[in-house]
Amino acid sequence: MTAEEIAGWLREEDAAKLETLWSRADRVRSEHVGDHVHMRGLVEVSNFCVRRCAYCGLSSDRNGLQRYRMDAGEVMACARQAVELGYGTLVMQSGEDYGLTKKWVADIVRRIKSETPLAVTLSLGERSDEELLAWKAAGADRYLLRFETSDPHLYVRIHPSLRERVSDRMAMLRRLRAFGYEIGSGVMVGIPGQTIDMLARDIAVFRELDLDMIGLGPYLPHPDTPLALSSDAEREQVPRTELMVYKSVALARLVCPEANIPSTTALATMNKANGRELGLKRGANIVMPNLTPTKYRALYEIYPNKVCIDESASAGGVCLRSRIELLGRKVGAGHGSRRRKRSVAAVAQDM
Ligand code: 5AD
Repeated sequence: MTAEEIAGWLREEDAAKLETLWSRADRVRSEHVGDHVHMRGLVEVSNFCVRRCAYCGLSSDRNGLQRYRMDAGEVMACARQAVELGYGTLVMQSGEDYGLTKKWVADIVRRIKSETPLAVTLSLGERSDEELLAWKAAGADRYLLRFETSDPHLYVRIHPSLRERVSDRMAMLRRLRAFGYEIGSGVMVGIPGQTIDMLARDIAVFRELDLDMIGLGPYLPHPDTPLALSSDAEREQVPRTELMVYKSVALARLVCPEANIPSTTALATMNKANGRELGLKRGANIVMPNLTPTKYRALYEIYPNKVCIDESASAGGVCLRSRIELLGRKVGAGHGSRRRKRSVAAVAQDM
């Protein structure tokens, strides 16, 4: 599918035609990644951040926010809980926090890998090659870093560079791949200044990067960030709608049939009644239940009114499990890594 064809689908409003998109995405999902929904337990390890991303509630520009950093014992308790709840992966996410040192992260990854059967996914921002290599050597399996937009002008507008740390997420994704990580990326849908053509190009780039994991959610304005004040003046601005997120998820599935695609928390926040389910029916095959200790959850407020802010990890897990079974799907066991039909080497030759 070309970027033009993707854009055509993003502009489609005919309900009957969209039904064909949902059913194609669901069929491709079933054929390539099966009917199991894998659960990835999410631990929001720290809300310290050196970056000033214009959309994010954890930006270092927010002076009023109380900051926290979990200790190793707290992270290990989350890992054990993930095992008890039957999850196959622990995702450690944080702001770009250099207080999480190379050694601290390597040690905790090594402990999780030796004391539990979990796969470990890191999502710790733009870190140095030295750090990424050390964490891979310690046993980390995957890394998540959304590029947020493939449009260079919009990218710099929402990701102000720090003097000594120019932001280049695309370059880092390619390095992560070379270091042997499974790589995940994605974008927010409906960023002010994002046009339909840009979003179509983003989805085409998922294919070019041959992503193993793709995260897509609506942009949800945080009132204490600069981007919340900007208007959607752009011609063909991508609307911040649930429908646009489903179209993006379905198209991501069609262009990357083998990818692991979560039905995201941001989508579930937008439609608390059944956003998560509709994502799973329109291309997604992963959910990421939150394991962060309740006392920290409200402080990890990337955007407002996040779902599950006050429920315990085990209640959230049980609730999700029954929702998955009600859809006629099964909860996946094991790591739920990307299954490749072709080797990395063969794919690289085509690129
Ligand atoms: N609305 C929705 N998603 C957001 N993220 C950050 N800020 C917001 C927001 N205001 C997403 C980004 C980031 C991921 C961890 O959360 O895509 O990569």
